[in-house]
Amino acid sequence: MKVVTIILFLLIPLVVHSQNTKGGEDAKGIFKYEDFQKPQECGSSCHTDFYAQWKQMMMSKCYTHEWDEIEYFKLAVPHAEKESKVAGVKEGCNGCHAPISFMVGDVPPPKPEFGSRANESVSCDVCHTITGFVGDTPYNFNYISNPGRIKQGIREDTESPVHITKNNSFLSKAEFCGTCHNEKSPFGTWVKSTHLEWKEGPYSKEGVQCQNCHMPRTAGVSSLMGKQRSDIAQHLFHGAHDPGKIRGTVELRIHPDADDVVPGEEIKFTVALFNAKTGHKFPSGSAEERMVWLQVEAIDSKGKVYHLKVDKKGFEGEEYTISSNTLAYQDMEVPLGLTDFKGVQRDGIPEGNRIFRMAYLDPKGRMTIQQWNTASFGPDYRIGPRETKLETFTWLLPDDVELGKLKVRAVLYYQKLPMPIVEFLGVPKEEAEIIEVNNHETFVEVVDD
Ligand code: HEC
Ligand code: HEC
Ligand code: HEC
Ligand code: HEC
Repeated sequence: MKVVTIILFLLIPLVVHSQNTKGGEDAKGIFKYEDFQKPQECGSSCHTDFYAQWKQMMMSKCYTHEWDEIEYFKLAVPHAEKESKVAGVKEGCNGCHAPISFMVGDVPPPKPEFGSRANESVSCDVCHTITGFVGDTPYNFNYISNPGRIKQGIREDTESPVHITKNNSFLSKAEFCGTCHNEKSPFGTWVKSTHLEWKEGPYSKEGVQCQNCHMPRTAGVSSLMGKQRSDIAQHLFHGAHDPGKIRGTVELRIHPDADDVVPGEEIKFTVALFNAKTGHKFPSGSAEERMVWLQVEAIDSKGKVYHLKVDKKGFEGEEYTISSNTLAYQDMEVPLGLTDFKGVQRDGIPEGNRIFRMAYLDPKGRMTIQQWNTASFGPDYRIGPRETKLETFTWLLPDDVELGKLKVRAVLYYQKLPMPIVEFLGVPKEEAEIIEVNNHETFVEVVDD
């Protein structure tokens, strides 16, 4: 009797769920928490190494990470409750940030402090039960989940004492990642498009997948009892939160248009920026809040520093790509319940620097970091994969500049979230950490005429 019950118990989840073909919003509430295994179960005695890697990746924290909690509970949820157009995000954010809770219908989930299973974020069993996706384009959590004893893997010859492993080539494809790394807002705009950027860029044509750069392969084992193999997929998933992944992404060179210059005359410097490392645009992902900017300074022979301003190119919407002392992000007034809110300083960096970004615009045409409230965009001035951009800085030397050697230094900086927003919303300061992507310097001689 007991044995029969146990066998039935093991079979029921298989019978009931093996046929799931729903994804995206249709998958809300179709499962129970018990259908999904906890990451500790995968990681405590078998996949110990991947478990240790998982605990460090952002995807194990996408529900609990403080900035995620602030943006969801302080902005998205109240916004959804006040404006019907964006009502869907109250539940929808969880389709990617707390997928199990979404598929169980526990939305909004309890706050992270209550320790619910939403805190598992994107766990082993979220990814390893995905069998495919709905439709032609992966986006808005349209993955199809089939939890149970069958785990989706990438090999034919895997033996596990606790699960059946199915070889599913979908896991090795960029589309798998695209189900969460492309996002369409309620206004129909692509507010996250890492997979689409990859698809139109050079790497997709060469067959280089997301996994090649974010899950590099090397010799080892994937579980304590597993076979030694030459090409085990490491679960690094390093990205915006890894300064080492950011550094060197873009290579810089600066050169002058003359070897010497006289005080009171003009000289022009050209900076070439080559995106050598990313498989998508830089910045990508949460581009509504990412800042990448080029700062050029001249240092005269006495050590005096002059900040050079970038030459305007004259394209439409260029003002969004040059740092200035303007206010933005006024649409936060709705969720925060403010009236006559003037906004927050837009960039928080010295004026006149080139910013490589795409401005997200709310329905009233103002810049927003609430990606779900994006009705249109400014120009896309990010640096594409293997793209090179040229920026020039024409400088009229002051009459009193020191004679002698003049050093001109170009630095490219990266910041996840502008400092004025961090301060305004009380986000931990490390989200506004400034990382130097690269630098280069050149020299000219300041001479008497
Ligand atoms: C079930 C949804 C889901 C799937 C599938 C998924 N991701 Fe993610 N990923 C997320 C979410 C949500 C975050 C945001 C974490 C956070 O809150 O900062 C993220 C973060 C990341 C980051 C970290 C970026 C940073 O800010 O440091 C990388 C890198 C990444 N994912 C790569 C991938 C790759 C490569 C794949 C495919 C092999 C993939 N992801 C599949 C949901 C997913
Ligand atoms: C964001 C999704 C994601 C998460 C989370 C994730 N994996 Fe994976 N895993 C993958 C993908 C994708 C591959 C295949 C990569 C490839 O084809 O290069 C993979 C491969 C594997 C493999 C086979 C490795 C090999 O080279 O044979 C094992 C085993 C595995 N994962 C276990 C785990 C465990 C255990 C966890 C949790 C501690 C986990 N994974 C978390 C996406 C994920
Ligand atoms: C050729 C290597 C390469 C490929 C292919 C690649 N990436 Fe990246 N990715 C990088 C590098 C380098 C960074 C760090 C610089 C940056 O943030 O863009 C990065 C950053 C990221 C980030 C953080 C972006 C941000 O600014 O917040 C995410 C998320 C991400 N990748 C996901 C993906 C996904 C999903 C794919 C496949 C569709 C993919 N990557 C393909 C190299 C690659
Ligand atoms: C389609 C999947 C998807 C949906 C829906 C989604 N996100 Fe995300 N979110 C992601 C991914 C993927 C990243 C990581 C991108 C990156 O690293 O640049 C991310 C990153 C973030 C971050 C971290 C940004 C940072 O600085 O690293 C926050 C905060 C966030 N999302 C909040 C939300 C909120 C609030 C909602 C609902 C309004 C939401 N997300 C809806 C996939 C999604």
